[in-house]
Amino acid sequence: MKAIEAVDVTKKYKGSSSYAINNISLNIEPGRIFTLLGRNGAGKTTFVRICATQLLPSSGTVKIFENDLIKDTEKIRNNISIVPQEGRPLRALTPWDHVYYWLRIRGVNKQESYTRAEKILREFELYDVRNRLAMYLSGGMKQKVLVAMAMATDSKLLFLDEPTIGLDPVSRRQIWKAIKEKKENGTTILLTTHYMDEAEVLSDDIVIIDKGIVISQGTISDIRKNIKENIKIEISKSGVESDVLKSYGTVVDGGMETIKLFTFESNIQELSAIAIKKNLFFKVTPITLDDVFVSLVGSEPNNSDRELVRD
Ligand SMILES: Nc1ncnc2c1ncn2[C@@H]1O[C@H](COP(=O)(O)OP(=O)(O)OP(=O)(O)O)[C@@H](O)[C@H]1O
Ligand SMILES: [Mg+2]
Repeated sequence: MKAIEAVDVTKKYKGSSSYAINNISLNIEPGRIFTLLGRNGAGKTTFVRICATQLLPSSGTVKIFENDLIKDTEKIRNNISIVPQEGRPLRALTPWDHVYYWLRIRGVNKQESYTRAEKILREFELYDVRNRLAMYLSGGMKQKVLVAMAMATDSKLLFLDEPTIGLDPVSRRQIWKAIKEKKENGTTILLTTHYMDEAEVLSDDIVIIDKGIVISQGTISDIRKNIKENIKIEISKSGVESDVLKSYGTVVDGGMETIKLFTFESNIQELSAIAIKKNLFFKVTPITLDDVFVSLVGSEPNNSDRELVRD
């Protein structure tokens, strides 16, 4: 049984001339962390909201644990939780209220709700502010309250749309840990993020969408194969002709003062000899998901009459 089975899903928002998502078909296996990557406006949130029963598709079918999105909506809702991209906690309620009462509403008994609320608030370092009204929390604390609400449930499927946006590095790691624990307990997670390190740490499967279409899909190592070379070298711009570098691999844009080159390990010696001879800055690193992402979707300006339309 698939956690999500989406077939030819499209969405055209009212008043828009183009598709926000265009014929997306995806199978999401249960018990895995599945990450959607894509530039702003690619269609990630649209896809997430459709699967989470918040938005109707224009065409196509979606099944969540074999339940049809349209026919079995209520059944699906009992099995899922979502951290929406632009959610905010209610100003006049506390973190404790949010998590505890959310569990009570979802049918968890008092004792269990109490235990779970305490556990998650401690894990996310919100316990000390558990009785502070949301309007007096910092931006990151508010975001963590939303994540805590979803993570405290025992939903079989979690939709996390940029869950760690605006969080400090320590807080992000608290959330990563909680996400991994959820997975170990069999929960399926559909994640979106713009943080490539987060995607690398968490994802079992990745899908890259661009302008509403799936352009690459697979495990991290499958996705990496989009770049044929296996290492990255950065070298000072001054001193080496880019034609010389081109003969060793693919030159991509570097920083202000360096050129970035995707190349093979077998070329390191020759290239480092050039750098040493001319006394140039030289750095060898593995190719990251970030590099693959930029090489797949970063070359053209982000199209967007789609950006202009919102209702
Ligand atoms: N309510 C709406 N009405 C009309 N168009 C919309 C609406 N919401 C999103 N869109 C458009 O649909 C397209 C996809 O948007 P979506 O929010 O799904 O992108 P995203 O990949 O989540 O982007 P981001 O990374 O910025 O969150 C965009 O062109 C956007 O302008
Ligand atoms: Mg989004």
